[in-house]
Amino acid sequence: MEKSQSTLVISLLFVFLVSANAVYNINVVSFGANADGKTDSTQALLKAWTSACASKQSVRIYVPNGRYLTKKVTFGGPCKNNATSFQIDGTLVAPSYNVLGNTATWIMFRKVTGLSISGGTLDGQGTSYWACRKAGKSCPVGARSLSFNYGSNIVIRSLTSINSQNIHIAINNCNNVLVQGMKIVAPADSPNTDGIRVQKSTGLTIMATSIKTGDDCVSAGPGTRNLWIEGTNCGPGHGISIGSLGRDMVEDGVQNVTVKNAIFTGSDNGLRIKSWARPSKGFVKGVLYQDIIMRNVENPIIIDQHYCPRNEGCPGQESGVKISQVTYRNIQGSSATPVAVNFDCSRTNPCQGITLQTVKLTYQNNVAKSSCLNADGQTRGSVLPESCL
Ligand SMILES: *[C@@H]1O[C@H](CO)[C@@H](O)[C@H](O)[C@H]1NC(C)=O
Ligand SMILES: *[C@@H]1O[C@H](CO)[C@@H](O)[C@H](O)[C@H]1NC(C)=O
Repeated sequence: MEKSQSTLVISLLFVFLVSANAVYNINVVSFGANADGKTDSTQALLKAWTSACASKQSVRIYVPNGRYLTKKVTFGGPCKNNATSFQIDGTLVAPSYNVLGNTATWIMFRKVTGLSISGGTLDGQGTSYWACRKAGKSCPVGARSLSFNYGSNIVIRSLTSINSQNIHIAINNCNNVLVQGMKIVAPADSPNTDGIRVQKSTGLTIMATSIKTGDDCVSAGPGTRNLWIEGTNCGPGHGISIGSLGRDMVEDGVQNVTVKNAIFTGSDNGLRIKSWARPSKGFVKGVLYQDIIMRNVENPIIIDQHYCPRNEGCPGQESGVKISQVTYRNIQGSSATPVAVNFDCSRTNPCQGITLQTVKLTYQNNVAKSSCLNADGQTRGSVLPESCL
């Protein structure tokens, strides 16, 4: 071969190798993970992560079938690449709550940009922890199963989370997170097992997700912006909630929330906004609830601005949180209590710009009721129960 030809062959070969290796796969078993559900695999997972995170190429970490006992672990960034992924066929199993002790997180991703997690199951083994809580003993704080702090461009696909001790998924200080096709399961009476809890984050999208749990299906705390929830089922659970807000005087607001095509089944609440009856600079602005079905839901539509557990620490008993521009469009189905629409707003900061458009909620196949306190707004189209705005 002539020199130019061989150079060409070599460069073609090089291009081929680089593109074939565009995603580099590693298997946690080759780092010592053991699928027997008993051997501690934490260090193996951490080593796999450290190696993936240090790579300039994007790496796919593969977790094969089987059960992997995983203790508290933090996968830290920033990484040398912006596209690390986990492909999980197996189950990560939490240790008993005694082993986790007073740590508030089980699996945590911190400061990671560009991450995807596909498939797999997280088993938080919460049963004995809830039993401790119910027995009124002094128990540890309870670990959240999966947490993301200071991350961005995160995709979670087809992941299952069962029996988390505390919150299933917690998202704090993140940007641009997509949760798709997720399944979240815990008993209706498991305490504080929120499905997805977000705060101080911009751009969370939740699609085609099913949530059956003991607390809020989704809860959006202070500083949530651009939250989009579509095609999601909730119940049992405490509904899709904005709040609790306004616990603190200085608090970030919640802005631009959309909930579309959701079905609530036997849940305590449907579409809820909740704030403490305390002074606060917080706010909720720009919420659209559209094409929602309620099946036997206790409070299908509720704004509760008088939250004050045990009546403690709520001077004046009114909320400083300003709620405005909230639209309910095409909400249908059944309420499990006579009052299907309840706007219990703050006297000092009445709700403003509430729109009810095409609503039909019944109670025991009959007319339901609306209740309004300090709520201002309008109706469009047919609205049942009759509006009290
Ligand atoms: C990853 O993304 C961040 C933020 O967009 C950027 O600053 C950084 O340079 C990227 N790193 C790599 C390795 O591409
Ligand atoms: C509201 O949030 C959605 C995503 O949930 C986003 O596409 C849209 O641009 C946001 N609107 C504004 C005005 O920021």
